[in-house]
Amino acid sequence: MAHNNKQEPLHATTAGWKDYEILDSGNAQKLERFGALKLTRFEPQAIWKPALPLSEWQNTDAVFRLEKGKQSGEWQFKQDFPKEWTIDLSGLIVELRIHNSRHIGIFPEQLPGWLWIEEQIRSAQSSPKVLNLFGYTGVASLFAARAGAEVTHVDASRASVKWAQQNQQLSGLAEKPIRWIVDDAFKFVEREVRRGNRYDGILLDPPRFGRGPKGEVWKFEKTVQELLQACRNILSPQPLFFYLTAYDVQNEPFELYRWVNDALRAFKGQTEYGWMVQQEKSAGRKINQSMFVRWRRN
Ligand SMILES: C[S@@+](CC[C@H](N)C(=O)[O-])C[C@H]1O[C@@H](n2cnc3c(N)ncnc32)[C@H](O)[C@@H]1O
Repeated sequence: MAHNNKQEPLHATTAGWKDYEILDSGNAQKLERFGALKLTRFEPQAIWKPALPLSEWQNTDAVFRLEKGKQSGEWQFKQDFPKEWTIDLSGLIVELRIHNSRHIGIFPEQLPGWLWIEEQIRSAQSSPKVLNLFGYTGVASLFAARAGAEVTHVDASRASVKWAQQNQQLSGLAEKPIRWIVDDAFKFVEREVRRGNRYDGILLDPPRFGRGPKGEVWKFEKTVQELLQACRNILSPQPLFFYLTAYDVQNEPFELYRWVNDALRAFKGQTEYGWMVQQEKSAGRKINQSMFVRWRRN
């Protein structure tokens, strides 16, 4: 049975990937390598000085400059910068794009979570049904499908779902059973409750603020607990796993842990929580990126 005793938060790191690393950080920026290309992006936690010489930072292929006092900004590139390229994540091929947003098609801090999901699915006897809410460009859905799950992927953005389908093709997983759905995550779950559909595993990576395709407003603090309770009602009688991540929100990871435990108290399993941590290569300094709570059956 899940319990609410406070344990030390875990640290899950993104080390060891061929096509992704943080080379250095400092002056509120991080220097990242995505495959062959190096990008510089805003990183408010990097309040220290860079460890690498300026020449390394000047060698960046693209830099995202934040407008003063705003969350938006713009990219500056080297002349021959491709704007679209692919990276290999343990055999999955993911297209990255630089357009208007500082987001480029992947949140690399999620890498350890995707491996954990893959492990849960591979440990299942048969092909589990998995729901991925707020699925963006589909990397988690592809990890799950490749591991043997039947996946339902939901995102409010038609463009993100198209991008995810392209990643499915590029990864050679076109034959894998993935249902791609453009919908509001909360509305979709409510409909699944009414339809009596059930899932063996659910993962959700809600933003702090978002909108459904018909303008439905998503606010993490306001709706997440209700969504967790609704998700409980679409879990199969003996679910395999449940995985929640959150970033840029006011809550502590232990609070999220209590919510998940509360929602899943009817099921026998173990809950862990912690931070997804990115560690730079240059001096080993750590940046806490996203909180996670993960539950798996005993
Ligand atoms: C941070 S991204 C998720 C990242 C993804 N899990 C990954 O790591 O690749 C948040 C996603 O939530 C979607 N979104 C925002 N509001 C939504 C809503 N109300 N219903 C469904 N999706 C929503 C956005 O379109 C975006 O793709």
